[in-house]
Formats: sequence, C-alpha cells, structure tokens
Amino acid sequence: MGKIITKNLNLWYGDFRALKNVNSVFNANKITAIIGPSGCGKSTLLRVFNRMNDLIEGVKMDGEVLVEGKNILNPGTDLVSLRKKVGMVFQRPNPFPLSIYENVIFGEKIHGDSVKKDKLHNIVEESLKSVLLWDELKNRLNESAMRLSLEQKQRLCIARLIAVKSDVLLMDEPCSTLDPQSTSRIEELMRELKNSYTIIIVTHNMQQAARVSDDTGFMLLGELVEFRNTHEIFTAPRDKRTEDYITGRYG
Ligand SMILES: Nc1ncnc2c1ncn2[C@@H]1O[C@H](COP(=O)(O)OP(=O)(O)O)[C@@H](O)[C@H]1O
Ligand SMILES: [Mg+2]
Repeated sequence: MGKIITKNLNLWYGDFRALKNVNSVFNANKITAIIGPSGCGKSTLLRVFNRMNDLIEGVKMDGEVLVEGKNILNPGTDLVSLRKKVGMVFQRPNPFPLSIYENVIFGEKIHGDSVKKDKLHNIVEESLKSVLLWDELKNRLNESAMRLSLEQKQRLCIARLIAVKSDVLLMDEPCSTLDPQSTSRIEELMRELKNSYTIIIVTHNMQQAARVSDDTGFMLLGELVEFRNTHEIFTAPRDKRTEDYITGRYG
C-alpha cells in the first residue's frame, strides 16, 4: 500500500484550477520525483501533502489524499501532527537565526514537550548523524546556523525534520541553489535516507530525477500526465507529451 495516495484530487486558487484529477501513489522507502515545466503545479501538489496550501487564501480542494490510509482533507485532521509527520524542505535552505543546536531541537521546543537535556542532546547527535553533519559540526553546535555553507544549511533543514520524526520528506527543488558537488552529495544523502523515509522531490532538473528517483510523475498544466517507474518513463514514455518534454521539445 502507498504511503501517500491521491484520488481524483483537484485544487483551485480562487477560480483557477491548479490540480486536475490527480491520481497517484507514493511508496515508502522510495524516492519519487515530480517533474514538469514551471507553473505546472509541482509545488502545489507537494504542499497538499502537509496541507501547507491551507495558508493561502481562496484555496479549495476536493478528492482524497490518503496518508497512511487516512484522508487528510477531512476537517478533523490534526495539522500539527500532520506537519510533523510530513515535513518539507525548500529551494532556499531556511535555518532559523539560532545556533546549530537550537535549529535541530526547534521542533521539540515548539511542540512544547518537556524533554530532558541529555535526551535533547541525543536527538541533536542522531539527527546530525543521519544527514552526515555530526563529525564536521559536533564542536560547533553553539555557532550560528547562518554561518554554514548552503549545503550544510540544507542538510540542517533535513536534520530538523528527522528530529521531529517526520517520515515523509517533501523536497521542493532542494538543490537548485547548490553547486554540482553539493548537489551530488545531497543526492547521495537522499539515497541513504530512503531506507527509512518516503521521499518526494520536485525538480525541474530531469537529469536529477533520472539519477535519484525510483518513480517519476510528469505534470503539465495541473495534470499528472504520466506516473511510473523512472527508468521506464525516461526510456519508453507512453504519452506523447511526456516524450516531448523529456526530449526537450518544450521548456
Ligand atoms: N498562491 C497562489 N495563488 C494563485 N495562484 C497560484 C498560487 N500559487 C501558485 N499559483 C498558480 O498555480 C499554478 C501552479 O503553480 P506551482 O505549483 O507553483 O507550479 P510549479 O511548482 O510547477 O512551478 C501556476 O499557474 C501558478 O501561477
Ligand atoms: Mg515550484
């Protein structure tokens, strides 16, 4: 069974229909890429999964979005725990202007659990280890996170999600501000993390989708045109529009 399943999902910004009958299955322990030209609805779809679109005025949705079998579009959904479970990193890494340590445990504090100091320290160590930052940062935990490199900041943002025990990681063009070396190290990290997480990455870098993902969805004008195994979609697309896109016939 899929970790996240959408059934006939539609989303409107006011009168504009940005998602059209999207049917999809995102599996655990896999990386799924969402590709497509700018403005086709990739970020919109990603934001549905932790109901971040709710913060935008005039948004309306229908259909179903099942996370572990529960429809998160239902009115009673606990958004705080949904957003812990389904965490997001963005194009621009956005650490808080706090220490590295405080950044990792920020979620714990926000959610008000009174957690003991040594437990917090464990969380920081384990989370930084998961993103392969522990060795380089263990002696700098009290330094400002703003002084880290872009790649370190992005890793830190992922560590922040791991610290609150997110198990779905949504990544919206997470490498678009990074150089090729940093990009390839983040891709390596994603491959490692997929053993324990469900990862959904939006990218308009098709090479990246082909390199890193197990499944790929191609979107166009709010429609999920084709959604299949990555290798198949890149070698034998079934839809003419997918073929045109991956062969570079339109931007
Ligand atoms: N807050 C918003 N209000 C109105 N329209 C929006 C909003 N956000 C996105 N859109 C529109 O929805 C469509 C999909 O946008 P988006 O999901 O950001 O695309 P992508 O991430 O693929 O570039 C675009 O036409 C965009 O202009
Ligand atoms: Mg986008």
